Amino acid sequence: MIFTDLEHFITASFSLLGVTCAPSGVSSFTRELTAYAANYPDGGYQVFFWTYDKGLGKCGSQVFEPLPNTNDPLNVLEQIEDTQDKAVYVLHNFQQFLTGQKADPLVVARLFNLAHKLKTTNQTIILLEEDIQLPSFEGLIHILDYGLPSAAVIKAFLKQLVNRLPPGITKPHVGDTLIRSCQGLTIAEINDAVRFSLKKYPSINSEVLAQQVNQFKLAKLKRLGVELSHEPDVKVGGLKTLKSWLARRKKLFACANPKLPQPKGVMMIGLPGCGKSLVAKNIGSSLGVPVMHLDIRSLYHSLLGETEKNLRRILKTAETIAPVCLFLDEIEKGFEAGSSTHDGGVSKGVLGIFLNWMNEKTAPVFVVATANKVNNLPPEFLRKGRFDEIFFVDLPNPSEREDILGIHLNSFDINLSVEQLQTLVDKTEDFTGAEIAYLVREAVTIAYGGDRLCNFEDLETVLGEIVPQALRDYENIEQIRSWARVMARPAS
Ligand SMILES: Nc1ncnc2c1ncn2[C@@H]1O[C@H](COP(=O)(O)OP(=O)(O)OP(=O)(O)O)[C@@H](O)[C@H]1O
Ligand SMILES: [Mg+2]
Repeated sequence: MIFTDLEHFITASFSLLGVTCAPSGVSSFTRELTAYAANYPDGGYQVFFWTYDKGLGKCGSQVFEPLPNTNDPLNVLEQIEDTQDKAVYVLHNFQQFLTGQKADPLVVARLFNLAHKLKTTNQTIILLEEDIQLPSFEGLIHILDYGLPSAAVIKAFLKQLVNRLPPGITKPHVGDTLIRSCQGLTIAEINDAVRFSLKKYPSINSEVLAQQVNQFKLAKLKRLGVELSHEPDVKVGGLKTLKSWLARRKKLFACANPKLPQPKGVMMIGLPGCGKSLVAKNIGSSLGVPVMHLDIRSLYHSLLGETEKNLRRILKTAETIAPVCLFLDEIEKGFEAGSSTHDGGVSKGVLGIFLNWMNEKTAPVFVVATANKVNNLPPEFLRKGRFDEIFFVDLPNPSEREDILGIHLNSFDINLSVEQLQTLVDKTEDFTGAEIAYLVREAVTIAYGGDRLCNFEDLETVLGEIVPQALRDYENIEQIRSWARVMARPAS
């Protein structure tokens, strides 16, 4: 728990700490810290809170009364230096004066000196920020993460909230489904989502309330560039090796036992239209967890530093929602260093954050990445041990084509004889799964236009019109196949 860790740092005379915290978590952090500090032995310690607009004031009293002339960053540091109280000073959004456009070398120097000086006192400064990047204070500052609330904290909060509801509002049951729907949100966001839903539907039950909170969470994720994928209607045909490899991990992933190897993730490389994205979307149901689809390109933000911040936020959310599957489609496009669409420096930074997180993550977040081209892929991704396995998805073989044809024909209730099906299998050599899906859909469209049910002849007509992409792309395919022979495992 962060407050126990903070306590250890404070009592060990660490004078400068950093705490990362979502903007909507600031008040609950300060409230919890104040309550914790008051209960600390030997009379506890005081907590002061500073913002640029209000200045520095003591927490815990009914009204927040800032001290005069403490808005200015230099003044507040002077004020801290001049007092001897046993106290913790939480400076919110102070980092802007230490780095970036608004940075003031005088404030930097003053804080640097003060941090050294406070080591011999009972005073600690906490910089409270959404994201802390202060390389010039390396070694002097220790950073902790307030994080998003755990299931236990959410449960306690919901129980309290429900108990305080006024008469006339049905008290919803605080069960696992409702708690789960709140995971990934801050306490303030949960409060807003639950109160809003209860206001709108005063006799709402727990299940419907969970759906409402989920809608709120989906909107938040969408703003960050993440969508929760729905399980696709289409099953995956073929790719037996990949499917049984995934099935073997289901139990291990669900148990989250730190003594057992936790599955990290899988990378799928292969030709366009061969079912990589389809597999990824289906992995959620095979592992029994939701799938968070992250579009890396949508992360790139015009404001300096925002891209990295967004990625950290997303990874933090994934860890809170965990167990979850994090799906990154076509990573070569998102992480392509120095591409014309976004600045190479930023994409390198984003790549570094992501790889670092992959190495260090302990929460059950299963990463599923796909790529079409290996040339543009940063080599760091392919390093041994990064993913549990790298699979190569090739054009479907005859028995896989039969499987894929079966799935798509079935979805339109088209029945063929064994011989007719075999003919289609033979004539779809070099077709991708996507082209097979197109073949069936197009035949159904033609038949519908002629007011009849789709038959074998319609399928044959469309067959004659399709030139498989693979025939045009022969050189590229051979290149990726020869790479895959050495670097990846066949998915079928
Ligand atoms: N193995 C398969 N089984 C069933 N349908 C498939 C299969 N492969 C492809 N399809 C069909 O083709 C569509 C497109 O496939 P998908 O988007 O998964 O390919 P992809 O490998 O991700 O391609 P890209 O590299 O272009 O993104 C699927 O939605 C599905 O209808
Ligand atoms: Mg795809």
